Amino acid sequence: MRFNQKDSLQKEISRLKASHHTIGFVPTMGALHQGHLSLVQKALQENDAVVVSIFVNPTQFDNPSDLHKYPRTLEEDIALLTSLSDQLLIFSPDANELYGKEVVSKKYRFGPMERSMEGKFRSGHFDGVGTVLNLFFRAIMPDRAYFGEKDFQQLQIVRKLVQLERLPITIVGCPITRESNGLAMSSRNRRLSAAQQEEATLIHKTLKVVRKKFDSVSIQKLRAYVKQRFAENPHLTLEYFEITPVETLQPALRKTGKKKYRAFIAAFAGEVRLIDNMALN
Ligand code: PAF
Repeated sequence: MRFNQKDSLQKEISRLKASHHTIGFVPTMGALHQGHLSLVQKALQENDAVVVSIFVNPTQFDNPSDLHKYPRTLEEDIALLTSLSDQLLIFSPDANELYGKEVVSKKYRFGPMERSMEGKFRSGHFDGVGTVLNLFFRAIMPDRAYFGEKDFQQLQIVRKLVQLERLPITIVGCPITRESNGLAMSSRNRRLSAAQQEEATLIHKTLKVVRKKFDSVSIQKLRAYVKQRFAENPHLTLEYFEITPVETLQPALRKTGKKKYRAFIAAFAGEVRLIDNMALN
């Protein structure tokens, strides 16, 4: 079933909740790929009904040209979702339907983790993500919401968001889905040429080397290694490489104690910005 209006979606959700159905929610910005579909499949396994939203959220883009170029494939997305299950509630509102008259972000205090990596390089990004998810969460009130670990920092921010907003929603993180060549699936991959898709595998390859060396090599040396590897490649430009504990997402200079670490890369292939990450221990 397809909805553009909050009211009609909410009527259907109330009907489902009245008969004790649990609700799963998968928020997306469309241009769906296998990674999104794996979230939808998990949500279908764990809930009686599943809402999938398709909405390119303007407030989370700091760059108007990035927003403009973001792929939009609504009819294809709907066909793909319908072929997966005819039970899905597909919600694709326009900006004013979701936000009201003013399409602006709320200012959140997510703590230090909002200032590293994506937060540092995409100003206001997490306020935009928090604002739109808060609107969706309050409209849908799902039992569980599903997020991919490709956006690991976003996942941790969303866990913080439901605490700050006191929303009784379980946030479920799901593993990264990769192409057979290792490239993390992303809606942005559609903007890469075939050659760029191959070149971009450097990101995943580098993360795998970092994981292999993590126990025996210092973080400083790993940083130098990654910088060098990207500097030697004319097709990709490294924006950041960080190793951080999963709890704080603050760049680590050395390993301490028994913390769980993850490595993160953002890089440009031409104009297309790609991110990926990997658990190290
Ligand atoms: O990960 C995304 O696609 C977006 O940030 C989200 C969670 C749908 C919010 O707009």
